[in-house]
Amino acid sequence: MIPPILTERLTLRTPTIEDLSGYLAYRNEPSALAAQMMEITSETSARNFLHSQSQLAPDAFGWRMFAIEPRHNPGLIGEVGVFISEDNPEKGDMGWWMSASCQGQGYATEAAKALVAWCFTARKMHRLTAQCLAANATSRRVMRKLGMRLESQTVESRFLAGLWHDEVGYAILRHEWTKSLQSS
Ligand SMILES: CC(C)(COP(=O)(O)OP(=O)(O)OC[C@H]1O[C@@H](n2cnc3c(N)ncnc32)[C@H](O)[C@@H]1OP(=O)(O)O)[C@@H](O)C(=O)NCCC(=O)NCCS
Repeated sequence: MIPPILTERLTLRTPTIEDLSGYLAYRNEPSALAAQMMEITSETSARNFLHSQSQLAPDAFGWRMFAIEPRHNPGLIGEVGVFISEDNPEKGDMGWWMSASCQGQGYATEAAKALVAWCFTARKMHRLTAQCLAANATSRRVMRKLGMRLESQTVESRFLAGLWHDEVGYAILRHEWTKSLQSS
């Protein structure tokens, strides 16, 4: 298991099956589903997902989720994650999700910054990307606050909930991240 990552206010750790109710609660919030035009997550798929995440080897490939807990008040409030491809482990694709009651406090960005640092140091990656629907303003703001560049903007590339949606893609390279640390 990966040792927990600590930030000023948060702990990022490997999820377990104990996280099931908290995970289902924020994953199925109507505002979050609407932001991404997603379907409800079933208890069975959530249980299987959390079980497989809890068993991941530290150097595993594929999707890795980190559960987010406030250090002063333990309990699952959201997640950040990264997809690491076995064919190209120097590239990662990130995502994040925060319960509605814990949004607007900078937690998602604080956790995502810690994940960026983990990817570029522990996993020695070269390039990190993130994507969302173009209309997802809060997620785009997280990408910009991570220092990511807008690299792509597609037109009606994703068909969800009966409509075509535009998408955006952002990226940051390890040397860009290192430079940003030196200048901050
Ligand atoms: C995308 C998502 C994670 C963003 O969460 P969030 O809480 O809005 O993001 P942040 O952590 O950056 O916090 C945002 C606000 O907290 C405010 N804030 C309050 N206290 C703060 C503090 N101590 N430090 C930093 N920011 C603070 C900031 O002003 C910031 O607003 P700004 O972006 O206008 O500057 C959230 O909207 C979500 O879970 N959406 C549903 C799932 C989703 O769409 N995921 C994206 C898939 S790619």
